[in-house]
Amino acid sequence: MQLARNAALLQGVPACMLLPKPRGPLSQSLFQALREWPGSAPAWPRAADGEDAAVALWAAYELSYRGFDDVDDGLEWEPGVLELRQRLERDLEGRLRDRYRPPETTEPFAEALFDYIAGHDGHSLAAHVQRNATDEQVLDLMRLRSIYHLKEADPTAWMVSRLPVAPKAALVELLYDEYGAGDPNRLHSHLFAKGMEAAGLRAEYGAYVDEAPLEVLEQNNAMSLFGLHRRWRGAALGHLAAFEATSSLPSRRMAQGLERLGFAPELVGYYTEHVEADAVHEQLAVRSICGALVEAEPTLVDDVFFGAFTCLDLEDRVAGRLLTQWGAA
Ligand SMILES: [Fe+2]
Ligand SMILES: [Fe+2]
Repeated sequence: MQLARNAALLQGVPACMLLPKPRGPLSQSLFQALREWPGSAPAWPRAADGEDAAVALWAAYELSYRGFDDVDDGLEWEPGVLELRQRLERDLEGRLRDRYRPPETTEPFAEALFDYIAGHDGHSLAAHVQRNATDEQVLDLMRLRSIYHLKEADPTAWMVSRLPVAPKAALVELLYDEYGAGDPNRLHSHLFAKGMEAAGLRAEYGAYVDEAPLEVLEQNNAMSLFGLHRRWRGAALGHLAAFEATSSLPSRRMAQGLERLGFAPELVGYYTEHVEADAVHEQLAVRSICGALVEAEPTLVDDVFFGAFTCLDLEDRVAGRLLTQWGAA
């Protein structure tokens, strides 16, 4: 089994993923329907709680990424599933919009966006890992980070075909790095997978979704929401800008913390790769991607800030949740 998993990793072949565990009546009903299709879509129950809705939406989105071994690939565009996805997306959008307050200044654009991102004062998981985290806390964090890092950049790649010339060229330049610049062994998601294996963790895509708390599911769902809808292109790129502009220094802290604890060089290497890469990417994302987008489409300025806010706010909520759980808030 271990050999097969390694072989799959080395060849870049995605290992299998099954539907996650349901967390309430809605996800129970959706997952059962997905497994038993064809059949008519049931009358979907209202979600009993946030996690129930979030895991249902996460699974509905995954049909557009790599799918599940226990679900027919044809269900990606099934109207009954899309209808539920749309209902859950509206609820998510409402929650995200309710938390956002537009900034007072958006001119000049790139400086205003850098200032806005720098001015967001949130909890820092990287600072905790650098100085105080235990091995177990780091492993907890890696399992949860894997839900995004094992498909790193995929939600943003949806955007390429939807952009005007200048931001499209800049986004592809950034994505070229994220996807390994032509070398499968340099793909950032693959670097993370190798780090997971070296740390004794499972590296299959989606392996730890059942452990993800609400905040982590929402963090992943927000990226898919923005990435899959052309109307949210401003938010998708604003999210990317905030992500890249808050990565370089925290990645250095993560690498130092992992070295302090004696984690494998493969895992440390994923973070050291991001120290330099994201110092470049933040300039690309803020100036050449978002800057060029709002020059071509000035009405999208507020969406860019909304996307940036959502990235920072959700990361703050994830960090707050974990630090509280660890007694380190
Ligand atoms: Fe990356
Ligand atoms: Fe990056």
